[in-house]
Amino acid sequence: MQETPSQYRARRCTAPDCGLRFPVTDGSPLGSTCPLCRAPTEWVDAAYVTHGVSSPDASLPRAEASAPEPSDGSRLRVEALLDNIRSLRNVGSMFRTADGAGVSHLHLGGVTPTPEHPKLAKTALGAERSVPWSRHLDACAAAGELCAAGRRLWALEGGPRSVSIFDPSVARAAAELRASGDTVVLVLGHEVSGVDPRIVDLCERVIHLPMVGIKDSLNVSVALGVAAYLLRFGPGADPVAPH
Ligand SMILES: C[S@@+](CC[C@H](N)C(=O)[O-])C[C@H]1O[C@@H](n2cnc3c(N)ncnc32)[C@H](O)[C@@H]1O
Repeated sequence: MQETPSQYRARRCTAPDCGLRFPVTDGSPLGSTCPLCRAPTEWVDAAYVTHGVSSPDASLPRAEASAPEPSDGSRLRVEALLDNIRSLRNVGSMFRTADGAGVSHLHLGGVTPTPEHPKLAKTALGAERSVPWSRHLDACAAAGELCAAGRRLWALEGGPRSVSIFDPSVARAAAELRASGDTVVLVLGHEVSGVDPRIVDLCERVIHLPMVGIKDSLNVSVALGVAAYLLRFGPGADPVAPH
């Protein structure tokens, strides 16, 4: 995994009834007014540290080897928190993936567009009507509320805490949560700056999809698709029922 100094930092709208939080290039005058309500914004927290996922961890055994079977055979409950995903196409695609994989709720944070935007349906193709969603101007605050409500936050991200999704500890944790009926919220980040580090701090796990090529990350909607299918239908889960 590579750690690179980031040029990104969070700004937050100062209007009490807005509070939009979004990443901006550190020091840039852009974003000094809120793109939603036009009130002044302020810098918050330190600059992001971004993490790529550049090295496959070939030394790790495959999860199948040691993953215990879930006691009740039911599927892992998965939701996703989208932290400042800027692209309409990506978010539409994530609705379609959520519909397909059975991700039961999308929490749309910061500038992430919602199905109220008419162009989101171009890639969601109707899934924007089937997948429940909610909007949160401050994804960081939303993450805290989800934790307080008992959801288990897992960031999809690189960084020093990150372990491969194929690490046996991930399959074991998924099996435990399948058995207990708890819900995992996968947190995915902005296309360039990644997940807000303050949100990563709130996550009980940080997991990544190993990268074996020249790139150190996947398209964010692809990352959601791979992770959601692995966690819900992968090792230890029930066989896929016919559609
Ligand atoms: C394009 S990536 C952001 C890349 C950014 N340069 C960084 O290093 O954080 C956007 C989001 O997709 C998800 N993502 C992309 N590739 C991933 C991978 N290999 N493993 C886990 N998450 C990944 C993460 O949620 C990430 O925040």
